[in-house]
Amino acid sequence: MVDLSTEYVGLSLKNPLIVASSSLVRSADDVKKWEDAGAGAVVMKSLFEEQIRMDADNLFGKSSGDRHAEGYDYIMNTQMEFGAAEYLNVIQNAKSQTQIPVIASVNCITAKGWTDYARKLQEAGADALELNLSVMPTDPALSSDDVEERILAIVSTVTGKTNIPVAVKIGPYFSAPAKIARDIVWRGAKALVLFNRFYQFDIDVNNIRLKPGNSLSTSSEINTTLRWIAILAGRIKAALSATTGIHNAEDVIKSLLAGADTVQLCSTLYKNGESKIKTILNDVEAYMKDQGFDSIHAFRGTLSQRYSENPESYERLQYIKALVGIE
Ligand SMILES: Cc1cc2nc3c(=O)[nH]c(=O)nc-3n(C[C@H](O)[C@H](O)[C@H](O)COP(=O)(O)O)c2cc1C
Repeated sequence: MVDLSTEYVGLSLKNPLIVASSSLVRSADDVKKWEDAGAGAVVMKSLFEEQIRMDADNLFGKSSGDRHAEGYDYIMNTQMEFGAAEYLNVIQNAKSQTQIPVIASVNCITAKGWTDYARKLQEAGADALELNLSVMPTDPALSSDDVEERILAIVSTVTGKTNIPVAVKIGPYFSAPAKIARDIVWRGAKALVLFNRFYQFDIDVNNIRLKPGNSLSTSSEINTTLRWIAILAGRIKAALSATTGIHNAEDVIKSLLAGADTVQLCSTLYKNGESKIKTILNDVEAYMKDQGFDSIHAFRGTLSQRYSENPESYERLQYIKALVGIE
C-alpha cells in the first residue's frame, strides 16, 4: 500500500492533486463533486478585486482604486454572477459539506480597497487563500521594479491581514523569476503556484481579426513549469504547486520529481471530466509500486536542481548538443 498523502501550506491533503481555480469550482456542490472524485483539495474560481470593491460598498463602505481591465471585462461579461458576499456563502457551505481543504482565490493587481476581505474569507472557513497576481505590463513607462513592488505590496498587505496561509500564483514572465519568488516568500507567502496560463488570442487571417486561442493547454506546455519548480525546490522556504500542462499521471510524477508539493489540474478535467482524477491517482500509485516508492516524500524533489550532479542542465538555454546532426 503506497501513501499518497502530502502537506501543502500546513494543510494535510490525502493526495497532491488539487483542482485548479476555474469555473470547475464555483459552488459548494462543485467542491463536493471533486471531493467525491478523489481530489486532495480545490481552489475556488477567482473573485476579481473589482468585484470585492463593488460589493465593498455594502460590506465596508465606498472605496476607489485602479482599474483592472481583465476584472472589469470579466464582471461585465458574467453580469456579476459571483458577488463578494455570495462567494463567502459558497465557501461557508462548501466547508460544512466537505472535508477536503478549500482554498479561496482572488485575482488582484492592487492592494487598494479590497484586502480586508481576506479576513472575511478566513472567517468563512477558507483553509488558505491563493492570490492570482498575474500582470500584463504593456505600459512602456512601467518598469519591472514597479511591477514587482506592486506584487510585493499586495502580498505584504494580505499576509498582514489574515492568519490563513497565502499562496501566490504568478505568470512566468519576470526578468529574475528566482528573486521575485524569494521576495514573495519573504513577504509572508507560504506557497508559490507556478505558473498561471494567460488567456491567449490568435489571429484569423481570412477575416483579418483576432480570434480566441486555445483556452485549454496540452502536456507540451509543462516544461517551463518543470524548469522553475526544479530550480526553486528546496531553495525557497515555501511550498510549490505546479500548474499548466499537467494532464496525466506522467505529468504529475514529473512535477513531483522536480520538487512540487502539489499539482493543480484544470484543462485535463475540462477535457476528461471527474473520472480523470481516479485514473491519475491509480496510475501514480502503480508507478510508485513499480519503482518501490512507499510515499510521495520518498521521491519528491529527486530531480530538483539542488540534488543534481549536473545543475547546469537546468539552466541551459541553447540547443548546441541537441542540434548536432540536425543542422
Ligand atoms: C476556463 C478557465 C478559467 C480559469 N479561471 C481561473 C481563475 O479564475 N483564477 C485563476 O487563478 N486561474 C484560472 N484559470 C487558470 C487555471 O487555474 C490554470 O492555472 C491554467 O489553466 C493552467 O493549468 P492547465 O494547463 O491544467 O489548464 C482558468 C483556466 C481556464 C481554462
